[in-house]
Amino acid sequence: MKVFITRAISPEGIQLLQNAGISFTQWTEKRELTQDELISFCKNYDALISVGQDKIDKKFLTACSHLKVVAQMAVGFDNIDVAEATKLKIPIGNTPGVLSAATADIAFLLMLAVSRKAFFQYKSISKGTWGYYEPTANLGIELHGKTLGIFGLGKIGFEMAARCYHAYNMKIIYCNRNSNPFAEEKFESKKVSFEELLEQSDVLSVHTALTPETKGSFNIDAFRQMKKTSIFINTARGGIHNETDLITALQDGMILGAGLDVTNPEPMHPDNVLLNMPNVAILPHIGSATEETRNAMSRLAAENVIAVYKKEKLPHIVNPEIYK
Ligand code: DGY
Repeated sequence: MKVFITRAISPEGIQLLQNAGISFTQWTEKRELTQDELISFCKNYDALISVGQDKIDKKFLTACSHLKVVAQMAVGFDNIDVAEATKLKIPIGNTPGVLSAATADIAFLLMLAVSRKAFFQYKSISKGTWGYYEPTANLGIELHGKTLGIFGLGKIGFEMAARCYHAYNMKIIYCNRNSNPFAEEKFESKKVSFEELLEQSDVLSVHTALTPETKGSFNIDAFRQMKKTSIFINTARGGIHNETDLITALQDGMILGAGLDVTNPEPMHPDNVLLNMPNVAILPHIGSATEETRNAMSRLAAENVIAVYKKEKLPHIVNPEIYK
């Protein structure tokens, strides 16, 4: 069994592969592989650990249909044509659960940063504008007792709800395909429609997967329905909001602020106007970037490869129907 890994990953997963006697190559150059390069590498390997946004589409899968597993080192898998992989009976793995707390921490951090204009204030010090104290300038808003709206109450949304409920006694509402009775009991939360979520949230935090249904959900019509005093947070995928519309919404005062850990495209261009807005905080997609979480993600990805090596089912699988 030979595994190709598209970026250098944390030691726990590497150790597991070594202990299992699986040989591997990590792509360590600090540039993204082109799809043609990835295809030509994969021709000589049995398994792939995909890290980042490698394009695992029909072209790739058809060219690499010999792969015994594609283990995505992320919970999101919008870069993968899962239906095509399923047709070709290639198991697709991901890393759910282990990054929920770290990602919710980043959503919480962005919410606080926006509510107190923290990134903007920080930048103003280096610009030399920390001058005369004005009691009515640079004011933020407080979060205690406000309403948090969660778009997509899965594991990460649950963690964000827990933080906001316990830290600020926030009222929790959520918009999801299915009800979450556990979250309703734990946080006295209530399932609402998308329109109600827009209209009622003081902070609206996105925690859903990027799918054809969620793509561009937060467009100008959506921002127009939100409270003028509200904060929009996205730590899921940049494609879920329309960036041009978000800029208009902020410039025209449709919403108060925005905190983004994900942008479209990534990396965000350094000249983007969002970077200079007082009520905006942007981070470079670091939701899962802690020692502990990246180690756990590498472990889950390795476990998926090792399972195939042992002729077992993937423990963390996206397309279990291939086993039917
Ligand atoms: C995920 O797991 O989908 C994250 O966005 C990757 O950091």
